[in-house]
Amino acid sequence: NVLILDFGSQYTQLIARRVRELNIYCEIHPYHHIPENLEPFKAVILSGSPFSVRAEDAPHPDLSAIKGHKPLLGVCYGAQYLAHFNKGHVAPSDIREYGRAKLETIHDRECLFAGIPENTQVWMSHSDTIAELPEGGVRLASTSDVANAAYRIEGEDTYAIQFHPEVYHTTHGKHLLENFLVHIAQVKQDWTPAAFVEETVDMLKEKIGDGKVILGLSGGVDSTVAAVLLHKAIGKNLYCIFVNNGLLRKNEFEDVLDQYKHMGLNVHGVDASARFLEALKGESDPEAKRKAIGGMFIDVFDDEAHRVEDVDWLAQGTIYPDVIESVSVNGPSVTIKSHHNVGGLPDFMKLKVVEPLKMLFKDEVRRVGAELGIDKKLLGRHPFPGPGLAIRILGDITAEKVRILQEVDHIFIEGLRKWDLYDKVWQAGAILLPVQSVGVMGDERTYEQVVALRAVESTDGMTADWVNLPYEFLQETSNNIINRVKGVNRVVYDISSKPPATIEWE
Ligand code: XMP
Repeated sequence: NVLILDFGSQYTQLIARRVRELNIYCEIHPYHHIPENLEPFKAVILSGSPFSVRAEDAPHPDLSAIKGHKPLLGVCYGAQYLAHFNKGHVAPSDIREYGRAKLETIHDRECLFAGIPENTQVWMSHSDTIAELPEGGVRLASTSDVANAAYRIEGEDTYAIQFHPEVYHTTHGKHLLENFLVHIAQVKQDWTPAAFVEETVDMLKEKIGDGKVILGLSGGVDSTVAAVLLHKAIGKNLYCIFVNNGLLRKNEFEDVLDQYKHMGLNVHGVDASARFLEALKGESDPEAKRKAIGGMFIDVFDDEAHRVEDVDWLAQGTIYPDVIESVSVNGPSVTIKSHHNVGGLPDFMKLKVVEPLKMLFKDEVRRVGAELGIDKKLLGRHPFPGPGLAIRILGDITAEKVRILQEVDHIFIEGLRKWDLYDKVWQAGAILLPVQSVGVMGDERTYEQVVALRAVESTDGMTADWVNLPYEFLQETSNNIINRVKGVNRVVYDISSKPPATIEWE
């Protein structure tokens, strides 16, 4: 187990992902909440930060229980922090080092740099520089601009690097992390999907005993993997509820429900399409639609949950990025999470909560899903927003518009599969625009709807790029849509990136 102390860098989660890729478990904790019990942690990594160590409001935690006692690696700000507070000198840099650099000299090819060649590319992102090493500091590597690009502290397992090993552009970054964690800190590489499944199933058995659990399935990867894990642990005491809000993809409710049943899950499908459509009536504001759908989901789920007697637990497919406590970079204030007012909650929300995936990143959830034998097609599904097609129909929603968009979306998605493009795209879908345009079909003039197609590449949805789909594919898809979907006479392709656009149109 490895502890990553977060100083607010945009790359902190990336450090955790790289460590996990080495089959080593790690946890991110904010610098101001260092765990009291450090016993489980075999090594500690200090992240980067947008702050300068010289600033008064910069993170200055007490590391006396860690430094000199545990193998420690400071990255960027972490490296500067270790210098600044141990009689070194951190100064503003004449040149702001940002981007690629070369480690021209590696002074010590043992330990941290074992097996790493000189002139390897590293990624820098800093404006301060370590002018003088701290007490006991021994220089390990330099670039042409940064003499102290890496150092260690004599007599301790303390290492510090000015560059970012977690970033893809640092060619030997993972190698360096492996040197630190496996060879220096001697951490075991035993964090595998199989080990996770075994440990989690044991933990769930112990925690839940013969209690009853309800879980809302969405058809998405997270809730499905959570359900299969729980099913493995407690079998028929897991009651799954799958709600059709009428805003899913074409045939999705029936298909996915069928798949769940084949997986042996105890799942109850509820078709509440009419209730959702009624709740959405006349709403055209995006946030009002989201609210209406969220509120109705709680009502429907609560009704269904009441059918199960003596429920003790509510299971959720929450994943790690949702629970990492963020470090505020706008000052020393700590982000405080709002607490629910328990009195006003629906009954199911008063249950004890179990979240078996809350320490996993999305790609790990997929790997655990594969380990559990979940169908590849289900695991590889594109993300789909909770409010579904409601936020892809601009303006108000009617049953007819939902039908049109389901048909268009179906042709687009099936086309991506047929052309072997589905897995190369992170997310795709169609948007029904509140615009009609003139067309001609046969000898007839038409005045029908416009649809937009959207396909993006991304890793986490935070940033995204539109996908350069082949013209031939777009041509075939456009023809199929216009010829087969009554009510649509024009197809456009969205070529906007996020930022400044967003993935969804609402
Ligand atoms: P945007 O449009 O913000 O989308 O670039 C980023 C990712 O979030 C999804 N998304 C949602 N998911 N409820 C959800 O569960 C929502 O209200 C919602 N809005 C956007 C979107 O599909 C994309 O994957």
